[in-house]
Amino acid sequence: MNAMSRKAESFDFMFPPSERRRRLPTNCRWPLSIALVAITLIVIFFAYHNPSLSDSNILSGYSLEEIKPSSDSRYSDLSRLIPQLYKPFLHPIDAETFIGENEVEYKIAQNPPRFTKSLGKKVLLLDVDTRALNGEGGMMNDHISYHDLSPHTAGMLSHYLYAMIHGYEYKFIQAPSYTDRHQTWVKVPMIREALKTYDYVVFMDADAVFHYHHLPLEWLFNHWNITSDTMLAMALDPDADFNKDERGNVNLNTGFIIAQASERTTEMFNIWEDCVTDNKYANCSKWRYEWSHEQAAFSNYLRYEYTGPNEVISLPCAEANGYPKKADLGCTGEFVRHYWLDKGATVGALQDAVTQYAALRLHDQFHRHMKSTLVNATGTTLPLKEGEGVVV
Ligand SMILES: *[C@@H]1O[C@H](CO)[C@@H](O)[C@H](O)[C@H]1NC(C)=O
Ligand SMILES: *[C@@H]1O[C@H](CO)[C@@H](O)[C@H](O)[C@H]1NC(C)=O
Ligand SMILES: *[C@@H]1O[C@H](CO)[C@@H](O)[C@H](O)[C@H]1NC(C)=O
Repeated sequence: MNAMSRKAESFDFMFPPSERRRRLPTNCRWPLSIALVAITLIVIFFAYHNPSLSDSNILSGYSLEEIKPSSDSRYSDLSRLIPQLYKPFLHPIDAETFIGENEVEYKIAQNPPRFTKSLGKKVLLLDVDTRALNGEGGMMNDHISYHDLSPHTAGMLSHYLYAMIHGYEYKFIQAPSYTDRHQTWVKVPMIREALKTYDYVVFMDADAVFHYHHLPLEWLFNHWNITSDTMLAMALDPDADFNKDERGNVNLNTGFIIAQASERTTEMFNIWEDCVTDNKYANCSKWRYEWSHEQAAFSNYLRYEYTGPNEVISLPCAEANGYPKKADLGCTGEFVRHYWLDKGATVGALQDAVTQYAALRLHDQFHRHMKSTLVNATGTTLPLKEGEGVVV
């Protein structure tokens, strides 16, 4: 395969199949073109004559501008705009395969697929933190500057974006602090509480992000064989001695958790939280403060308790943990990137998640409106002859 066709193929996943593309509006007819040109000219006129818009610092003043509830909700409400922007790229939920950017083909576990429709608001994408997060670039700061975006904020915004693209619910729980154990334990009771309202809770650490924003969770559920029996799915850690439990099996990582509501799941979360009391499992108290806290508690005890088919699913590290620089550990994070030692990388990941799709939409729009965006002057010769012109 030559370099050009490799490149073309690797971008295939970003482009909708031709059938989908045809559903986009067809080329506009001339009255519409004239209207578009007119609108563009009016916008340019006002932009030029409005000091606040022609100011190159337009973005720095943005967050200070009040968006009034009375303004047109179609434009001020991102939860409508964002799904429209990503719609042409969405991978079908019930597709048999997905081809990643490295041309690797992934298949669903059961055919026909279990999930065929969007789960919508039955799914909660959840962030949990006990910290105030109100410092410079922090999520809870009223105003942040784009260039000071903290990696933590970028991670959370990426989760928020992913939920918005696919119509899931998103929430951030500012959690109370434990006084008797390390704060990473707090995700355990908070996920349990969220499962009282939602059928599925997908929890992510702020340094974990989805890699393909156009790939829906339901497809991943089909791929990872999430069934009605599934209580929890978590990714395996890299295969290293310090990541092993007392029986010598590789630990599960709690940076990315898929939890499904059921009585049995609630019971499991209760036992997990109570683990440190040593009532059920002798020696679990050592994981109150010793790394890896709730991960070690789950890996040492809980996972051996719930061993029914598909009940607790161990996701491959290559698919749901790590990032490409950790390929030597077998953890490339194909679907979920978890940037343990490279936390700043979430900022670039968020930027990619927005610009790669927006750039392709812009390019597509340029082509579909070529009657107004292109002046083909290649038929003339320079210098222009007497009476000849380029009509712009
Ligand atoms: C998926 O789960 C079903 C039900 O437990 C099982 O029969 C099947 O073998 C699993 N498929 C894969 C690929 O693990
Ligand atoms: C608990 O830890 C102690 C000391 O390390 C050990 O002797 C004992 O066997 C452990 N108990 C269990 C049930 O693992
Ligand atoms: C531009 O015009 C030239 C000469 O008239 C023509 O050969 C070419 O196909 C045109 N390009 C486009 C993109 O329409």
